[in-house]
Amino acid sequence: MSTVTFNANTIPSIVDAAALEAAAARPLAAVTGAELQAPLIQGGHVRYANLDYGASAPALTIVSAYLNEVLPYYASVHRGAGFASQISTSVYENSRNIVREFVGGRADDSVIFTRNTTDSLNLLAGCLPHVDGQFAGEVLYLDIEHHANLLPWQGVPHRSVVAAPTLTGTLDKIEAELALGGVSLLAVTGASNVTGEILPIARLASLAHQYGARIVVDAAQLAPHRRVTIAEADVDYIVFSGHKLYAPFGAGVVVGRPDWLDAGIPHLAGGGAVREARLDSVSWATGPARHEGGSPNVLGAATLARATQVLADLDQDAWHAHEAGIRSYLVEGLEAIDGVTVHRIFSDSEDTIGVVNFSVEGFDAGLVAAYLAAEHGVGLRDGRFCAHPLLKRLGLPSGSLRASFGVGSRLEDAARLLTGIEELKRNGLGWDYVVDEGRWVPANDHRSYPEWAPNTPGTAGAAPCTVD
Ligand SMILES: Cc1ncc(COP(=O)(O)O)c(C=O)c1O
Repeated sequence: MSTVTFNANTIPSIVDAAALEAAAARPLAAVTGAELQAPLIQGGHVRYANLDYGASAPALTIVSAYLNEVLPYYASVHRGAGFASQISTSVYENSRNIVREFVGGRADDSVIFTRNTTDSLNLLAGCLPHVDGQFAGEVLYLDIEHHANLLPWQGVPHRSVVAAPTLTGTLDKIEAELALGGVSLLAVTGASNVTGEILPIARLASLAHQYGARIVVDAAQLAPHRRVTIAEADVDYIVFSGHKLYAPFGAGVVVGRPDWLDAGIPHLAGGGAVREARLDSVSWATGPARHEGGSPNVLGAATLARATQVLADLDQDAWHAHEAGIRSYLVEGLEAIDGVTVHRIFSDSEDTIGVVNFSVEGFDAGLVAAYLAAEHGVGLRDGRFCAHPLLKRLGLPSGSLRASFGVGSRLEDAARLLTGIEELKRNGLGWDYVVDEGRWVPANDHRSYPEWAPNTPGTAGAAPCTVD
């Protein structure tokens, strides 16, 4: 393990570096696949160091056990009088209450299950208020957003703000834009998926409201790392995904004020979303049903809800210490290596989730990711992270690397990454790599997948949002 000292300054409540190191040494909660063995290109196996939680996090073992418990009762929801249908319906509907409680929602907040965060934000884009058939205002967003919180707004009246080099300056710019009037919704991320920096959402909510706008927080990255209480922060809407929140069974959610949602365009026209359908006209339902046409993803919603309960039960200090311990170890270790740069958006941001973004001078990010996977059993993300405008502005038009971690991570995962980068700088690559379908891969890769997984050449494909 590399020797890196701890900097406890980033966590106000925990100042003892040794305690931080101890907290980071072990996983905070058990996740599936924690002991997965990854084959190395030069032979042998090593425990897979999963540093890609920010893309999709492994399932909590409690969640996967819960899935097995519920599965025998899995049946249609809202549609059947049978025993299993009744159970499934109650599990599905109760999931709304659990999620509402997790985000500290208001009693009348709607909780609508969707496919993922992208789907949730698209749903909300169809619910912006109208006056006399015209949009009642514009959506305001920063240039640091994930495409999911950028592209849905391009189809409606919108304005964007280029973030300043400081958070303080960025808040000033947002306020100046809000003060011009005409903004109905401020759409902002809770934490950057590129750098992990956290935005002050309560302050942003108060700014939005001061100028008559509402706020939606894209909490795809924030919710798996921090408790958010939307009623307390006065946030109008929050969206996030189960697959990043240790419930990888494909559901997302939007929670927030019911008025816009009840008047908006039904997200999926079809069965269940209607009060009454006639041959050529319809009266739509209100409430979650309006947007949940078709058979819902009952197990996705149930496991998402179960995961929120597990996170809610975590000791907050222990949770922060675990994550901050791994993060400070990794950042300090990377910064100590010649030619490695750790990237951030704001020079004054104080709080950060378990995401570290960096580049290695002289090496393409995709090549470093392929090398770390093949020669060190480390999984991380490279590319432009579906945040093209930000990467371009940060001077990283061809991408960078992102290590991300969470409750199942341990210091040893970060140590493996540091060892890999140190060896790369010292000895160079230990294998030949080629570009296949736009992605770096080891040449002559004879490692096989498990027998049940199709070992089809080219399935790795290009990372999303990487290619032009
Ligand atoms: C900040 C942020 N918003 C939105 C998304 C989109 O999430 P999903 O892929 O679940 O729709 C992501 C995914 O990486 C993200 O990091």
